[in-house]
Amino acid sequence: MALQAIKYQRGKLQILDQLKLPYQEIFIDITSSHDAWNAIKKMQVRGAPAIAIVAALSLAVWLVSYLREIDEADEANEDQQNQTRNMVETLQQMLKFLVSSRPTAVNLSDAARKLEQVIITSSHQPDASPRRVAEAYIAAAEQMLANDVHDNESIGKHGASWLLGNLDSPGKISVLTHCNTGSLATAGYGTALGVVRALHAQRCLQHCFYTETRPYNQGCRLTGYELIHDQIPATLITDSMAAALLHLKGKSERIAAVVVGADRVAANGDTANKIGTYGLAILARYHGVKFLVAAPRTTIDLETPSGTDIVIEERPQIEVTTIKGPPVKHLEPTSVDVQVGEIKEISIAAEKTKAWNPAFDVTPAPLIDAIITEVGVVVKENGLFELRKIF
Ligand code: MRU
Repeated sequence: MALQAIKYQRGKLQILDQLKLPYQEIFIDITSSHDAWNAIKKMQVRGAPAIAIVAALSLAVWLVSYLREIDEADEANEDQQNQTRNMVETLQQMLKFLVSSRPTAVNLSDAARKLEQVIITSSHQPDASPRRVAEAYIAAAEQMLANDVHDNESIGKHGASWLLGNLDSPGKISVLTHCNTGSLATAGYGTALGVVRALHAQRCLQHCFYTETRPYNQGCRLTGYELIHDQIPATLITDSMAAALLHLKGKSERIAAVVVGADRVAANGDTANKIGTYGLAILARYHGVKFLVAAPRTTIDLETPSGTDIVIEERPQIEVTTIKGPPVKHLEPTSVDVQVGEIKEISIAAEKTKAWNPAFDVTPAPLIDAIITEVGVVVKENGLFELRKIF
């Protein structure tokens, strides 16, 4: 069964708490923008598309309970214009608050901008009322959820067929991926991991190598969890092993590409993604391996001209100086049944260590061979990505 990290039905939103993975599968309720802000900030949900969807749906859930509470008789008597204006202002403030949770991924601010537009448009209709505005918002947020899963499946198909169509010789291929870009980072299926899933579904995947992704370990905690869940043949490497992997096993394992996701793609194709991505792009170029970025169009930010304009989130030093997990004695080979209380932070650095912790880096467009989107694969024309053409 497909891994489901966001459970939504009108009026109810639950997310799989990613801080507890891979040791425990615990879903938490999100009932308001405050819940969503906290969950995003604490990384209970992370990944560019997933945080946008959870933020959008958190307001939809809150609006459903609001609609249940308002008395229809009162509605008819109240000053509809004032009420509607108040509702628009409240929702705008909540969206702004949600956007403040994490700065680098553009999907969240893109979703907020689109939803704000929906709110404003519905408030200008002749029959405008708080109820109408709320209903329009809920429908738009639900559509975002449906679109994201569908778009990811298309990204997977486009990416797999581009890769298979660009091989020197036919046969199964392997790929290397970084961070987590799967069902846990999106509304479902995944972007770069969607390409891996599509290759596997078509029986064209030999092996998926994935990095640990220090310091937050999205690779070993989350990507590993997804690959094992889907029974996709996969091997974990530490980030420092990537060069050796391409050098020593690149040919024998038929590693055809490094495939990564993105948090923001600038108009010229420069791509902000999880720290370590830039280094992998340099390695891929040196070893003659394709370097692909897989992302929905909502991750492409035409307003940002190049990578130098992207704000990079810096996270707490403690993520670098510690690691988190349960004591080894609690891990059975066949069991993931570990008590929450037993997940501990362990120091791995000298006391008083100062650490730098940028969460993302920017890969310059010249190192990227193709950008895979839901509407097709974009390659460079005369050395440049013409991303405007796909909008
Ligand atoms: O800091 P995170 O875990 O939220 O990082 C986001 C990511 O997972 C990405 O870097 C990813 O590659 C793109 S999101 C599909």
